[in-house]
Amino acid sequence: VNHTPRRRVAVIGCGAIAQSHLRYLHASPLVDLVALVDLAPVVTGHLAQMLGPGVRAFDDAATMLDEVRPDTVHVLTPPSSHVPLSTLALQAGADVLCEKPLAATAPEVDALLAVAGGAGRQVMECQNYRYLPEMAWLRGVVADGRLGRLRQVDIDVRVPIASGGRFVDDGVPHYVSHLPGGAVRDFLPHMVYLAEDVLPLLPGEVVSARWDLVSGKAAMGSDTLTAVLAGDDVTVLLRFSALGSPPGFRVAVVGEQGSVSVDLFHRKRSLETRSVGGPLAAVVDRLSTARQAVVDAAQEVRGKVLHAGENGIPELLDDMYRRLAAGEPMPVSPSQLRRTAEVVDLLIAHGGLVSSDATHAAVAS
Ligand SMILES: NC(=O)c1ccc[n+]([C@@H]2O[C@H](COP(=O)([O-])OP(=O)(O)OC[C@H]3O[C@@H](n4cnc5c(N)ncnc54)[C@H](O)[C@@H]3O)[C@@H](O)[C@H]2O)c1
Repeated sequence: VNHTPRRRVAVIGCGAIAQSHLRYLHASPLVDLVALVDLAPVVTGHLAQMLGPGVRAFDDAATMLDEVRPDTVHVLTPPSSHVPLSTLALQAGADVLCEKPLAATAPEVDALLAVAGGAGRQVMECQNYRYLPEMAWLRGVVADGRLGRLRQVDIDVRVPIASGGRFVDDGVPHYVSHLPGGAVRDFLPHMVYLAEDVLPLLPGEVVSARWDLVSGKAAMGSDTLTAVLAGDDVTVLLRFSALGSPPGFRVAVVGEQGSVSVDLFHRKRSLETRSVGGPLAAVVDRLSTARQAVVDAAQEVRGKVLHAGENGIPELLDDMYRRLAAGEPMPVSPSQLRRTAEVVDLLIAHGGLVSSDATHAAVAS
């Protein structure tokens, strides 16, 4: 029997990504969804009606925090409001889960962590792709030592967002048009924290970071990134393209004894290890790779049929709320949050892009 009271949860920002959060919050036995906030009352009104009588609708975060006093707040608005809204919520006594990017720069992340510390609360960025089953499998393979000494981590993302859709809609400019690094920057936190997920000692030396606008669509800011981070004996490659097709999100780890890769969009896994035990071992290796291929095919079909749109958010939220109920720290640590932001900052700086602070000031004024 679980005697821990359900946490009273509020959501600020009810757009696209809120759907994933609300689906979990509506169904979980660990929480009671008590309030929704959005600048558009028609959205919150409609959702509150759908989600039940206990859910109140607001068009202003400060009023909601004052009247509802939630235990946890999900900040799911566009990036420029993440720090101010998270700060308000922490100061009102709530723990905060904020969508990525938590803040524009690493110093802003630090400042927010300090606000949380001062309020005796916790704040975490939604690093949901860590929770995809392919990442758990890949971490397992890396951890069991089969790959030998690790040499390279390669994150390669292709999303054809330059060819149409809300990133390039001239009528309603997407928030990425204000972000230094543009559309690439919007995906970069995912790429960096996944590199950290398999390589906790993520190298911090940026050897190169080339940001391009290949599509020529100015609203995208940047649509292509090719970057290399170097550590003592490991290299991290980060590649992003907004033009490539079909879409893909590949994470590969190469070691001296083998390599492993997954595609998070296509739910594919592959593992190849060097045979060290003579001809028979080589056959066994090949058989196990073949067996894995059959498993992958089955998983891919199941993935496409049953798990369309899976993004790891329900799994992340479940882990987070279990830990909160047990009085434990949130699952993604402050040092991991800091590291993600620091590496993004280094890549931006290496690319000679406008400093985030300057752009933020320009947007705010
Ligand atoms: N983790 C992921 O996998 C993932 C995926 C998509 C988006 N995101 C992130 O989620 C965030 C939101 O993206 P989205 O695609 O849902 O955007 P969206 O534009 O669809 O939704 C944002 C909503 O926030 C509301 N809003 C804006 N300012 C507000 C304020 N001050 N108070 C209350 N409501 C406010 C808007 O009215 C809108 O309904 C972004 O930071 C984005 O990077 C994360």
